[in-house]
Amino acid sequence: MVKAVVAGASGGIGQPLSLLLKLCPLVDELALYDVVNTPGVATDISHISSTAKVTGYLPKDDGGKLAFKDADIIVIPAGIPRKPGMTRDDLFKINAGIVKSLIEIAADVAPNAFILVISNPVNSTVPIAAEVLKAKGVFNAQKLFGVTTLDVVRAETFVAEIGGKKTGSELTVPVIGGHSGETIVPIFSKISPSVTIPDDKYDALVNRVQFGGDEVVKAKDGAGSATLSMAFAGFRFAEKVLKAAKGEKGLVEPSFVYLPGVPGGEEIAKATGLDFFSVPVELGPNGVEKVTNPLTGITEKEKSLVDIAIEGLKGNIEKGVSFAHNPP
Ligand code: NAI
Repeated sequence: MVKAVVAGASGGIGQPLSLLLKLCPLVDELALYDVVNTPGVATDISHISSTAKVTGYLPKDDGGKLAFKDADIIVIPAGIPRKPGMTRDDLFKINAGIVKSLIEIAADVAPNAFILVISNPVNSTVPIAAEVLKAKGVFNAQKLFGVTTLDVVRAETFVAEIGGKKTGSELTVPVIGGHSGETIVPIFSKISPSVTIPDDKYDALVNRVQFGGDEVVKAKDGAGSATLSMAFAGFRFAEKVLKAAKGEKGLVEPSFVYLPGVPGGEEIAKATGLDFFSVPVELGPNGVEKVTNPLTGITEKEKSLVDIAIEGLKGNIEKGVSFAHNPP
């Protein structure tokens, strides 16, 4: 029996993500948690004739604990999204506390769950999650993931457009580093099957992958950031985690993970000087089976992008860690 939880289930990402999880035959029980509207969302989704049994919870009457209890996978898209002119870092003030409180509940009642953090700024909220889990004595780095799949999905789509492919979904495009602006580093030299990016299009393509989220924020004109594409990306990652947990092999997807705690991570931590980095993760029954070093064999251009990403990530990670230790 697999229990999945969506925390922030009534939101722009939460609703379509909950819908996709309800349609997934790997999920037996789906608990929807939010500070508003979950009774409505849960009742609505529960009328769909697929397997998962759906329940909805609000914070009152210990709803958080009941929702999270004994979950196998917890996906967190709770918190405020960007408006035009805002960076993901601007969200820190509000979202840091939200993520901290949700991880505390998870640590208490679902210490073995896979935890997938979507709430921004991912570069800081995942370090917060790790510190909270460590303090509660239940941290398992192999089960904590910052969801960066939307960057990968965007890269697949934009590369396909340039490379004359019918669809990006036939491409594997590693995207590493972090999840905001210049910390996002697409590794076009390792696209599989290989696609040559013309020199005159390279910089613009890198920029579009790094700042693709801004296109959505601008187009929505004050109504938020990516929700539908993010729900797709979050579901794609969650589904891979669940399939790997059931024993399926060969499932790889980049994710922002705690390097010292995952097999293969030490080498990358040494090379970057960072504890957290998004790297291609091979998934297994226990979460991260191993990570592969994405820095070997990259081009000079990619190396300089990685250097810029490392600089940005340092501060983002420190900010998360210090918030967890000294919340305001
Ligand atoms: P939204 O505002 O539409 O939904 C957020 C939901 O979280 C709301 O329903 C709100 O009531 C709920 N919420 C707030 N505090 C909560 C708490 N303490 N417990 C449970 N639920 C709570 O926002 P949207 O567009 O769904 O975005 C959610 C987050 O995802 C934002 O931080 C956004 O920046 C991030 N995001 C991350 C992406 C990624 O690639 N990782 C991509 C796009 C957005």
